[in-house]
Amino acid sequence: MTRVAVAGGTGEVGARVMARGAARGLDMVNLSRSEGADLMTGVGVAARLAGVDTVIDCVSIETMSGQQAEAFFTATSRHLLEAGEEAGVRHHVTLSIVGVDEVPSGYYRGKVAQERIVTGSDRPWTVLRATQFHEFAAQMVRRTSIGPVAFVPRMLSAPVAADEVADTLLDLALGEPRHEVVEIGGPERLQMVDMVRRLLRTTRRRKLVVPVPMPGAAKQARSGVLCPEAPFRTGVQPYAAWLQEQVSER
Ligand SMILES: NC(=O)c1ccc[n+]([C@@H]2O[C@H](COP(=O)([O-])OP(=O)(O)OC[C@H]3O[C@@H](n4cnc5c(N)ncnc54)[C@H](OP(=O)(O)O)[C@@H]3O)[C@@H](O)[C@H]2O)c1
Repeated sequence: MTRVAVAGGTGEVGARVMARGAARGLDMVNLSRSEGADLMTGVGVAARLAGVDTVIDCVSIETMSGQQAEAFFTATSRHLLEAGEEAGVRHHVTLSIVGVDEVPSGYYRGKVAQERIVTGSDRPWTVLRATQFHEFAAQMVRRTSIGPVAFVPRMLSAPVAADEVADTLLDLALGEPRHEVVEIGGPERLQMVDMVRRLLRTTRRRKLVVPVPMPGAAKQARSGVLCPEAPFRTGVQPYAAWLQEQVSER
């Protein structure tokens, strides 16, 4: 049975990769601190990689600091690649973000550093860049709210369902290493501010949404650099359908 390790298997997309991989009959291993594997220090990683064929990296850190993001993604990627080589992992798949190299500041600076390490390594790799998930609107509300006000960056996005990103990661992970960066986006272009307002309306929550410039990249984020031009795959679920699911699941 193919054994797949998911770094960040408890996160928004990582948990979906874990569940959807198990549903495909794969032997899924979670690498996250809650399972005793810390990718910042490398502690507990080697033991959990024993017998693993493929690694899918979905770790993340909540920060706007470029320095902190760079330190996090550099350390976690290096530890994962080194431990993967020791364990004989045959494919390393990393999840990144569409347009990061056009906006190399704040959190995205860390993602650029991560891509550089993976694409420059001599390990067998594939990078999937995704656009913002539909679920990102909820992450924005959680992360940018101060009391009854959410400060949401003005950015044009091509949102995609995290489930579709998870399936694409698994498809890539089970294939041969591509040694290339491929992209996935959703079927439409939406403003993040509107996505957040629609989410709040649909889930009947009262909050004032204040649009703010995206730190360090106001113009680029508004002009659509975070949307893919020639995606490897385009997700099919529109945002409205995902919103509807949030109501029926409540
Ligand atoms: N959210 C989006 O819209 C979006 C869009 C495109 C790409 N991405 C990319 O997708 C990836 C996942 O994002 P997400 O939003 O799903 O992340 P998330 O929900 O914040 O989850 C982060 C995961 O990382 C794990 N983690 C954090 N520090 C760790 C450490 N030191 N060692 C091991 N595991 C650690 C966490 O588990 P523990 O706390 O248990 O350790 C958790 O499972 C990121 O690389 C992000 O850049 C996200």
